[in-house]
Formats: sequence, C-alpha cells, structure tokens
Amino acid sequence: MLLPSLLSLLLLPSPAVLAVANFENTAVVRSIELSGTLTHVATTYAAKALVGNVKTYSIALPRLEKERTSFFEVKVKGQNVPLKAEFDWDSFKARDYDVLRVTLPEPLSVGATMNLVLETVQTRASRPWPEKASQTETQSLKYDFSLFVISPYETLVQRTKVKLPHPEVHSFTQPKDVSQWAQDDAASHIGNVITYGPFRNFAPSASDVFDEQQTMQIHYPYEYPLVEIASYHRHAEVSHWGANLNIDDNIHLRNVGPELRGHFSRLEHQKQAYSTKRVSHIIPGMVLHLPAGISNVYYYDLIGNVSTSHLRTAPAPAKRDARNKQYSTLEMRPRYPMLGGWNYTFTLGWDSNLADYAGWDTTKSKYVLEVPLMTFVPSSVYTEASISVVLPEGATDVEYFPPFAPETQSVDTLKTYLDTTGRPRITLAYKNLTDRHALGTIHVTYRVPFLAHLKKPIAVSIAFMLFFALGLVGRRVNLELHSAPGLKQKTL
Ligand SMILES: *[C@@H]1O[C@H](CO)[C@@H](O)[C@H](O)[C@H]1NC(C)=O
Ligand SMILES: *[C@@H]1O[C@H](CO)[C@@H](O)[C@H](O)[C@H]1NC(C)=O
Ligand SMILES: *[C@@H]1O[C@H](CO)[C@@H](O)[C@H](O)[C@H]1NC(C)=O
Repeated sequence: MLLPSLLSLLLLPSPAVLAVANFENTAVVRSIELSGTLTHVATTYAAKALVGNVKTYSIALPRLEKERTSFFEVKVKGQNVPLKAEFDWDSFKARDYDVLRVTLPEPLSVGATMNLVLETVQTRASRPWPEKASQTETQSLKYDFSLFVISPYETLVQRTKVKLPHPEVHSFTQPKDVSQWAQDDAASHIGNVITYGPFRNFAPSASDVFDEQQTMQIHYPYEYPLVEIASYHRHAEVSHWGANLNIDDNIHLRNVGPELRGHFSRLEHQKQAYSTKRVSHIIPGMVLHLPAGISNVYYYDLIGNVSTSHLRTAPAPAKRDARNKQYSTLEMRPRYPMLGGWNYTFTLGWDSNLADYAGWDTTKSKYVLEVPLMTFVPSSVYTEASISVVLPEGATDVEYFPPFAPETQSVDTLKTYLDTTGRPRITLAYKNLTDRHALGTIHVTYRVPFLAHLKKPIAVSIAFMLFFALGLVGRRVNLELHSAPGLKQKTL
C-alpha cells in the first residue's frame, strides 16, 4: 500500500496536495438528519487561511455521497446568499471522491477565518430493512455513510451528529481502530442523536494516500410512509382573456416502503385507524399544500372524481411575496390504502386569478409571470418532473428563468381549439427534485402584441358568425326538404 501511495505523491502533484497549504480547518461539524426518503446533511467548515489572497475553498465529497446528492448549496454561515460552487471535473477521474470548488465572497488575507456551510439533500439514501413487513409490523430503514468528513486541508477536530427520527435505534456501527484520532468512545447514542467523534488532528484526507475511511450503518425505526413521485407533470396555462392561470398536475406516486408480507386485511387496517399505533408502511392519505386564492379545484384519479377529499381554501394574499406563507390545504384520501410497492396516479388542478401571478414591467414593457415549480408531497423525492408553461396565443419576445438548472428545456408551439397561430410553450425537465426545490418559481417575461390580444375575440366571433351562417343555411335546407307543399301554408 505504501509504495503506490508514495509513487503517486512523487509522480503526480495532485490539485488536492497543492491546495493543502491554503487553509486549515479548525473544526468541521457534520449534522445528518435521517427522515426517510430525504436525508438532510449540513456540514460546517470553520477554516483559517494560511496564505494571502485566497479566493476559493475546496470541499471534498465521497463519490457515494455525491451520487445520492440531489441538492447542494454553500453559504457563509449566517448569510442568505448562496456562493458559487462547482464540481471540479478535470482533476483525477479515478479517485473515489469529488471536489466542489467554492468561490469566496472576497479574497481572504493570511490568518483570516470563515465559517462555510454546505447543505445537501440526499435522496433514497435510507432503504427499508427488512424489505418486507406484515401489516402489523413497523417499518425500519438502513442508512450508510462515510465515517470521516474528508478534506484537502488539515482538520484539527471533526465530529458527526446523526439525528434520528425517534430516540430508538436498532443498531449502529462502532468505528474501528480510530485511537490515533479519538480518545474516548468514538460513537455514543444519547436521546435521538448518535455522535461520532470528536476526531482530532486529521491530516489532509481528500488525497490518494488516505485509505482509512470506514462505512457506518444505522438501522432505525421510521413511523412515516416512504413516498416517491415516480413522475410529475405540471401544465400551467395563462389566459389574459379570462384573467386566469390554470394549473394541472398529473402525479404518479409510489409507496417505496417495505412490501407487504402476507395478506392485506381491511378489518385489521380499520382497527389500526382507531388505535394510536400507526402502521407506517401503509399510506391512508396525505395533506397537500396548494396555493392560496384558488378556485375550481379538481382532484380525480383513473376511476373518476375522488369525493373523499377535503379542501380548505385560503384567501389570496394581499402581497405577492406573502404567497408562500399562506396556503390552501387538500386532505386527500386515495380510494384504497396504499401498501408498500403500490402506485397511485391522480390529477389535481385549479384556477387562480392571473393578477396573483403576473404583472406588467413598465421599464421593459413586458408581462412578468411567476409560475410555482411544483406541488410538494411532503418528504418525497420527484424522480422525473416536467413543467410546462403555456403563454397566450401570439406572445413574443419570450424569455424565461428557471429557478434551478433543468436537465432539458425547450420552447415549442401548442395549438388548441380556436387557436390560429398557437401558443408558445416552455417545458423544463428535472430529475430528483426535493423539498429544497419545492418553493422554486419559473420567471417568464413576454409581450402580447395588441392584435394578438384581439385574435381570440376575433376567432370567437368568426366562429359565431360561421355557426350562425351555417344555421341559416341549415334552416333553409330544412324548410325545403321537409315541408311538403301541402303543409307549407300551415307552418308559415
Ligand atoms: C437521481 O437519484 C438516483 C438515486 O439517488 C441516482 O441514481 C440518479 O443518478 C439521480 N439522477 C440524477 C440526474 O441526478
Ligand atoms: C368531486 O367531489 C367533490 C367533493 O370532494 C365535489 O365537491 C365536486 O363537486 C365533485 N366534482 C364533480 C365534477 O363531480
Ligand atoms: C408501480 O409503478 C412502477 C413504475 O413506476 C412499476 O415498475 C411497478 O410494477 C408498479 N407497481 C404496481 C404494484 O403496479
């Protein structure tokens, strides 16, 4: 092991090795919050600059962790603006970690300190174990993670706290052979927190010579359903003519909890509904937050209108920025309780007053529209999502600004009933959306030429006139065909 390591040090002055001198981590604290399908991780790096004029800080993520990460954001602790952070593609490809390069708000001088916070959301990192459970058993999950937070810089002290959803835990791995960094018990469980560390005097570990990493596993009970949205499609359509924004969501939901072992008993299910002990791997229903000020809400599945749902509508907020604070709630109950592995597809839609979402920008002489990205089903990951925004017919100078970089994006023209030229349609496709994406809005700006505004009324009146003309012709034809000469006198 030593020889290849030495060789790699001698032959390849890797970027990680070069970066060593720039910083020292005085403390690194990682906090992992286990909550089913989504795992929230916040890592705080307290760092001191060892040289002057440093503009970037490097964060290393083990490859396994990066693959599960569906959202990341780096901020200076206590500030709101995310820093520019990009994965470094052109360094070592064969290594088992990736490097995130963070651009600092301003260059640091020698000895200056800062606290950076990396927040990530991991998706599907916890999995059901056992994979099958009977109707009366509770659901348990397993989560794996890397013991050490690795870094290209020396770390004076680091620790990891894992927050459990409940104080109980079935088991957790104890680190092995860590006496060179830790004095006491390397892992301890108090209340609903398991703490690993502190580990002291850690040499730069995001390097090819570090091979002390260990995988830890936590097996814990979880009392809430594991939900995944296998596919989500939002169709948002603007009508200036009707002063309306219509939202139509098609949602394909999956219970990714343990599959049912044995038979499903409806009697047992009903008994459980009245007891305090919930069966976490069966989804009886859920509560969704919809925007305030909506009307004509509909909710139907493959069979038809679902009448067991209950809607409470909040009035539209007076100010547009208060939009995320007020919401309507839909308590929805699928037709059947959803067991592990089961799917449920449904459609949800509503109308909103266009003025709540669109305005006129006088400086640009353009309409400005803000369309919410999604309806969020709590604690779920959206595997595939596509969001379409359909603008009024004849809209021009269309520009749009997605809240997050999409996988694919396109603009095309949609033709529907009574359209002459068609409507511009923007479509964004995403993968692995999480709660941290849920409040995103798509900004769209466009113009509607005066004549285009009239297109609809003109099309409608032409249609009316045609209809009327046809009616006249029809009457004449009718008269001539059906009125026998003898009867004509009577009818007229
Ligand atoms: C989505 O998440 C899954 C599992 O976490 C992962 O395998 C896949 O690569 C992710 N896709 C994208 C585009 O990030
Ligand atoms: C669907 O069911 C709801 C009750 O949840 C009811 O208010 C609504 O009128 C129904 N819609 C249709 C089209 O039947
Ligand atoms: C649920 O949908 C997935 C695809 O999203 C499919 O593979 C699976 O077989 C479906 N399960 C059931 C029970 O229909």
